[in-house]
Amino acid sequence: MAERKPLISGNWKMHHTHLEAIAMVQKLSYLLTDADYHVTDVSVHPAFTALRSIQTILDADRIPIALGAQNCYWEPRGAYTGEISPLMLAKLAVSFVIVGHSERRQIFGETDEWVNRKAKAVLANGMTPIVCCGETLEERQAGLTSSLCLGQIGGSLAGLTAEQVAGIVIAYEPIWAIGTGVVATPEDAQAVIGAIRIEVGNLFGADAAAAVRIQYGGSVKPGNIAVLMSQPDIDGALVGGASLDAEEFSRIVRYRAG
Ligand code: 13P
Repeated sequence: MAERKPLISGNWKMHHTHLEAIAMVQKLSYLLTDADYHVTDVSVHPAFTALRSIQTILDADRIPIALGAQNCYWEPRGAYTGEISPLMLAKLAVSFVIVGHSERRQIFGETDEWVNRKAKAVLANGMTPIVCCGETLEERQAGLTSSLCLGQIGGSLAGLTAEQVAGIVIAYEPIWAIGTGVVATPEDAQAVIGAIRIEVGNLFGADAAAAVRIQYGGSVKPGNIAVLMSQPDIDGALVGGASLDAEEFSRIVRYRAG
């Protein structure tokens, strides 16, 4: 089984106008080198309004940063005012689509069933879903972390083939660690992510479990990424706040440099 290549993803959430996004990607492209891309996959997930601008820059300057989206609907077209389809994203050369982020689950009421439909639609359009799971502080304190995350993963991946699961990305993002500055300990993150990998094995087989990339997300910074990445089952990071600054994000991508 080949080594899992780390994937460091910047989720810009509802930040950066398309003009700010352009400046950000240009700065990032000066800071990162081919040597970085060789050992680590990098994706950026701007707002929908910036996707076209960023796609044009990545393409014109041949920058090997993967373009990502933060969400999508599951239908290819139709009367769904305000929604964006996976077909539209695929036409913009989007590679990764985050589905089921906790902010979408909590603020917009997305369920595992919706996340499942979105993951399938993303795959059907030749892109890779980053499927998120994670518990609240109350759920953690009640000892529900593993059962909740495994339930979210089982529901969100239902009906996918083992081959599909092998190629997707899962992101474990404890909600209490998002935007709080409180990062999970490497041991806690590893414990949950290890349990998710075992569950993927139970549901989809050993090959899928060995291949699927699982990211950690929640207050990842240049100062804590290396120790997180030293854990055996952590294959990358989904970074919010620290991905908004090119210099800070580039240091996260270069976590091996210390
Ligand atoms: P922060 O890195 O700002 O905690 O956000 C994490 C996150 O939600 C990424 O999707």
